[in-house]
Amino acid sequence: MPQTVKGVISRAKGADVEVVDVVVPDPGPGEAVVAIKTCGVCHTDLHYREGGINDDYPFLLGHEAAGTVEAVGEGVTEVAPGDFVILNWRAVCGQCRACAKGKPWYCFDTHNAKQKMTLTDGTELTPALGIGAFIEKTLVAAGQCTKVPEADAAAVGLLGCGVMAGFGAAVNTGGVTRGDSVAVIGCGGVGNAAVAGAQVAGATTIIAVDIDDRKLEQARHFGATHTVNSATTDPVEAIRGLTGGNGADVVVEAVGRPETYEQAFYARDLAGTVVLVGVPTPDKQVTLPMIEIFGRGGALKSSWYGDCLPSRDFPMLVELYKQGRFDLDAFVTERIGLGDIEAAFDKMHAGEVLRSVVEL
Ligand SMILES: NC(=O)c1ccc[n+]([C@@H]2O[C@H](COP(=O)([O-])OP(=O)(O)OC[C@H]3O[C@@H](n4cnc5c(N)ncnc54)[C@H](O)[C@@H]3O)[C@@H](O)[C@H]2O)c1
Ligand SMILES: [Zn+2]
Ligand SMILES: [Zn+2]
Repeated sequence: MPQTVKGVISRAKGADVEVVDVVVPDPGPGEAVVAIKTCGVCHTDLHYREGGINDDYPFLLGHEAAGTVEAVGEGVTEVAPGDFVILNWRAVCGQCRACAKGKPWYCFDTHNAKQKMTLTDGTELTPALGIGAFIEKTLVAAGQCTKVPEADAAAVGLLGCGVMAGFGAAVNTGGVTRGDSVAVIGCGGVGNAAVAGAQVAGATTIIAVDIDDRKLEQARHFGATHTVNSATTDPVEAIRGLTGGNGADVVVEAVGRPETYEQAFYARDLAGTVVLVGVPTPDKQVTLPMIEIFGRGGALKSSWYGDCLPSRDFPMLVELYKQGRFDLDAFVTERIGLGDIEAAFDKMHAGEVLRSVVEL
C-alpha cells in the first residue's frame, strides 16, 4: 500500500519551502523505502529552491540523510529491512564505460528509483539529487542505500553529501598523502571536511582560507595548521609564504567562484594539483594565461562527490568517527525540525552554521 507522509517541497522558483503530504509508493524491483532519521541542509538544496539546478518543480528537497530500510522490492539483495543506511546520490551502475574501465566513482549512469513520489493530487515530485530526504520516508534505488555501523544519524548522515565531497576532494581527487602541504579555500561544511581529510591523510601543512573568521576557527579544530582571512590578506602570497615560497602541493577550491579558482591556480606549487569541488553557477568564466597552465605542470581536476565509492568510503569514515579520529559531531551546528528549513537557509547564508540537521 502506498503511504502518505510529511515531506518538504519547493513548489516554485524563489517561493518558501512547504511541509506537505507526499505519497510514497511501495518499492518496486530494485527499489527500497527508507524511514529517514536525519537529513542535513546542504547548499545544493537552496540552489534547487532558487532554480539554480533546473526547472523541474516541484522538488522534494533534502539529500544528506541516514535512516533505516523499511521495505525492499523484488530482486534487492544488498540491503534488508532494519538495516541502518546512509543514502548516496551516486549508485554506480557497474556497466557504463567508466565502470567498465574500472573507475566506478566516475559512473556515467548512476541509479535512482524508477517510480515517482507524488503529491496527493498525483503531481510527480523531482527528488533533490535523486533522493528527496526531508521526508518521513523516501523511495530510492536500493544501490543508493549504503549499510554502515550504527552511529549517531545526524553526524554520519552528513557523509551522504557535503562531508564526503570535501573529504574525498582532498584524499581521493587530490591524492593528499603524508607530508603534503595542502590549502583549502572556502571552509564551510565541504571545505572543513577537506581540511579534516588532509589531516587524516597525514598532510603536515594545512592552510585554511576563508573570508569569515568563524569558519577559520572551526578549521583549526578540524586540523588546519595555519589560517588566512582572504578578506584582509592576499591568500596566494600567504600560502606561498607558508610553504617556503613555493605554493601548496594540493589546493582545494570549495567555493565555486572565478576569483577563488584563480587563487587556487596560483597558490599551488609546480606540478601541484588544484581540485575544484565548489560548484559554479553556469554564468561563471575564468581566464588564465595558457603559458601558466603549461608551465606550472601538474593537474587541474574537478571532484564530483569527492570521487567517492559509497560502499568503500562510508563505512570506513563511520569507523574513523567511532574511533575519534574524524570529528563528524563538530559539523552538526544545530538539530531542527521539518518546519525549520527556511530558517536554516537564512543561517547558512549568514555563515552561522556548518550544518543544520533535520531530525525526524
Ligand atoms: N562537488 C560536489 O560533489 C559538491 C557536493 C556538495 C557541495 N558542493 C559545493 O561546495 C561548495 C561549498 O559548499 P558548503 O556546503 O561548504 O557551503 P557553505 O556556504 O557552508 O561554505 C562556503 C564557504 O565559502 C566561504 N567563502 C565565500 N566566498 C569566499 C571567498 N571569496 N573566499 C574565500 N572563502 C569564501 C564562506 O565564508 C563559507 O565558509 C558549494 O559550491 C556547494 O555547492 C559540491
Ligand atoms: Zn556506471
Ligand atoms: Zn549536498
